[in-house]
Amino acid sequence: MKIRCFSLLFVLVATSILTACGGGDVDGIVYPIAPDAGGELLYAANCQVCHASPATGGERQFDAPRHDADGHTWHHADRPLAEWVLDGVPGGSGVMPAFRGRLTEAEVVSIIAYIKSTWSAELQAWQTEGSQAWEDQRAE
Ligand code: HEC
Repeated sequence: MKIRCFSLLFVLVATSILTACGGGDVDGIVYPIAPDAGGELLYAANCQVCHASPATGGERQFDAPRHDADGHTWHHADRPLAEWVLDGVPGGSGVMPAFRGRLTEAEVVSIIAYIKSTWSAELQAWQTEGSQAWEDQRAE
């Protein structure tokens, strides 16, 4: 009986550890993504040529949407945004390349964190709430 209780406890602990890992905290990646300006150079090197700067604007190419308040990036939750950048935008024109293999998920997350850092506090709060709701639904 003692042994059985112990193994049950072990299974419970192991399950809760696995569940904690499934929450998105793999390789230090956490959703929703906290705004952070650190990904600015990665953005400039990989995204700006088409999307212009979310902070200072500028020329765009291929009609790529802006990531600032005038665009609609902030209408979407963080996880799907990262997935689109890695694997392509569903229903898109195919102009934007899928970045998987060129950028890691952590790099894509830091780029999204940079985009978010350029938004107003109000926009950040609204979009982060939506991103959290997305995560909650995913965990159910
Ligand atoms: C060659 C031009 C090009 C490059 C480079 C590019 N994009 Fe795009 N992107 C587009 C276009 C065009 C769309 C609109 C959807 C479509 O037509 O595929 C788009 C759509 C998106 C969307 C979905 C629309 C939105 O705002 O929610 C996101 C997010 C996005 N891009 C992020 C990025 C990020 C981040 C990078 C850099 C890692 C990047 N893009 C690089 C052209 C580009």
